[in-house]
Amino acid sequence: MLAVSCTEPVEPAVLAKAEKLAVQLNLPVELPENSYSSRAGSSKRYRLLLRVSSNGLELIKLDDPKLSGAVRVDFTAGHAAYRRKQQKKELLVRAVGGKGGNGGASLNVIDATGGLGRDSFLLAAAGHRVHIFERQPVVAALLADGLARAAAHPETAEICQRIRLTVGDAVPALEAMQETGAGEEGEGVDVVYLDPMFPERRKSALVKKELQLLQLLAHLDSSPEKLLESALEAATRRVVVKRPLKAPFLTDRSPSHSLTGKTVRFDVYLGCLLSRNREYSG
Ligand SMILES: C[S@@+](CC[C@H](N)C(=O)[O-])C[C@H]1O[C@@H](n2cnc3c(N)ncnc32)[C@H](O)[C@@H]1O
Repeated sequence: MLAVSCTEPVEPAVLAKAEKLAVQLNLPVELPENSYSSRAGSSKRYRLLLRVSSNGLELIKLDDPKLSGAVRVDFTAGHAAYRRKQQKKELLVRAVGGKGGNGGASLNVIDATGGLGRDSFLLAAAGHRVHIFERQPVVAALLADGLARAAAHPETAEICQRIRLTVGDAVPALEAMQETGAGEEGEGVDVVYLDPMFPERRKSALVKKELQLLQLLAHLDSSPEKLLESALEAATRRVVVKRPLKAPFLTDRSPSHSLTGKTVRFDVYLGCLLSRNREYSG
């Protein structure tokens, strides 16, 4: 279904990157003459191409005209840059609390469902240290590529210093943090943020396209119960869960309160309700 490709004309450095990525992700390489450039009459052996260019990595869906155009991660322009500049107003920043919310401290946040990293980047832009987990390797590769470009850009380099990406399942990592009360580098976990995949529609066409591609790759999250339970065990201050506006609470567990936007809702589970019964100081 998925292959790694590169842009035309095929430059040796770009081809080398594509080949390295294909080995990393255990995917075949499909060169342009066999795939993207001739897709009208192509054998359509692949539904998705992860295309490498000198400007970074993008994901293209070949067999669905409604999803035309590439998905790539770019924190330096467009909607991401706008959101970053507006971050104090963002509901997510308020839901997480700390610096962005009340002029208080920077927090250690685990984003256990990293996706394309939009929400993580916003939280890091608000001053928090964010450790992202993304278990789908192709999604993680797109995110790593976007972060690398942002780290080299003068407007976003400083934000990237507060972001760490781990490719893998967040659940065992959160469970290990419960044991020690700390992340890999000894820091406490203040907040765990969850944005599990859901089938409902979101309004923006861009988000819709990205979500549909994510859904193709990552499928729907199979065990939100485990994710929420391990998050509630690991976080010392709060767990924040993003939900569609009218969706039921994740695993039907009632939050302490919710912050409601036009299309999404953030359910906040405060420290005093967490199963470890640690003192809430947020
Ligand atoms: C809706 S997307 C998140 C979008 C993200 N908030 C953003 O701003 O781009 C959900 C992502 O969580 C990932 N995911 C789900 N369960 C996970 C887990 N247990 N550990 C790591 N990643 C997980 C999926 O692979 C998917 O990419």
